[in-house]
Amino acid sequence: MSDTLSIKDNRTGKEYEIEIVDGNISASQLRQIKINEGDFGMMSYDPGYLNTANCTSRITDLHGSEGILRYRGYPIEQLAEKSTFLDVVYLLFNGELPNAQQSSDWEERITHHTMLHEKTKRMMGGFNYDAHPMGVFISTVAALSTFYPDAKDVNDPETRMLQACRLIGKTPTIASYAYRNSRGLPYIYPDNELSYTGNFLNMMYRMVEPRYQAHPVLERALDVLFILHADHEQNCSTSAMRNIASSKADPFVSVAGAAAALYGPSHGGANEAVLNMLREIGTKDKVADYVKRCKGGELRLMGFGHRVYKNYDPRARIVKEIADEVFEVTGRNPLIDVAMELERIALEDEYFVKRNLYPNVDFYSGLIYEAMGFPMEAFTVLFAIPRTAGWLAQWMELMDDPEFRITRPRQNYQGSGERHVPDNYRR
Ligand code: CMC
Repeated sequence: MSDTLSIKDNRTGKEYEIEIVDGNISASQLRQIKINEGDFGMMSYDPGYLNTANCTSRITDLHGSEGILRYRGYPIEQLAEKSTFLDVVYLLFNGELPNAQQSSDWEERITHHTMLHEKTKRMMGGFNYDAHPMGVFISTVAALSTFYPDAKDVNDPETRMLQACRLIGKTPTIASYAYRNSRGLPYIYPDNELSYTGNFLNMMYRMVEPRYQAHPVLERALDVLFILHADHEQNCSTSAMRNIASSKADPFVSVAGAAAALYGPSHGGANEAVLNMLREIGTKDKVADYVKRCKGGELRLMGFGHRVYKNYDPRARIVKEIADEVFEVTGRNPLIDVAMELERIALEDEYFVKRNLYPNVDFYSGLIYEAMGFPMEAFTVLFAIPRTAGWLAQWMELMDDPEFRITRPRQNYQGSGERHVPDNYRR
């Protein structure tokens, strides 16, 4: 059996043998299929990239139909149970989990980068009190580019790792400063004696107490949520990261662009949209009517459905377990009853079953964030902080890829042919 695909072009009667590599064909191979010499050749057409692999990657393995998600081969369930977010970042960047020494060196390295330049802080103070935290996050991450001109040296692996550590260290600081600014509260400087998420909660919530110690259950819950959100292969924002970085733009502006892609309600903005939806529904008895409106095409059930998972999203299962642990500490979020009723009705309904629509990672995460005291507008930032790790791991992989190319898709042009601008067209 040969690893080729035979194609017959019935327009010309010609036959072609296309090589199959790793189960795929190279779209460029299709260019040899022409109706005459002047023909550009055939392209594959794939709006929304439903069936196009745009890179070879060794970071995240996702089997949508089986509900499997692995980072560097390790199942997400095991990482969520046994690892920490910072160790997972190390894994994503380096391909292996750290040993004890590497883990503590890594933690120390990241915590060396948690401070923001005072001018960044002042710049953030210029945003209005009601500025959306994602707008603040995106703008501030982009502004870091102006403070670290060495980041432009994207071809140097050491410089790349330095910028990556800066970003992992600084994103929680940016997020918490944005929150403090929105409340008119003084900024809290990082405390490097605390864990990554412990310090984040400290910068968010410390008031006049000399030291802020987060509840260990909440600190761990946030750490696990960060693990679950760290990477998800070639999704919309990661593809944006690769697209932007393929022009050799520096990682700060590239991450800002990726975060902008995350902001939309079809992607990372869904956790905020879910909470809005649950508040709008309000009580369990209104759920059936809301589901009816979704089925009629008037609305989408936010936190439901996924481009790749056509089975349960494995992250959603873990998030649901975390919700129970968090609510034991914070008290039950009353909207959980609405969410559970929504899930129950939708999972039994033929419309959702037929389309393989299941709860995704965003369905329950917002309820946890709300119970932990995060304002709803900050939810997508809580997605962006951990996903920064995935964006950076994918960026570093891209920069070392022997097949590196600037991203430049083709189009299927169906607009008008050449025409001439009339001299008097303004008349
Ligand atoms: N509620 C109701 N109907 C839906 C939903 C939904 N949430 N999602 C998809 N459908 C229907 C859609 O109307 C279509 O029906 P039909 O075949 O009759 O036209 C069918 O299911 C297929 O939908 P699609 O839009 O072709 O699917 P997609 O793969 O392009 O979209 C999605 C994936 C996640 C954008 C979509 O499911 C959605 O909008 N979900 C709600 C937003 C959401 O929760 N997003 C977070 C995704 S997970 C976090 C992340 O990684 O970003």
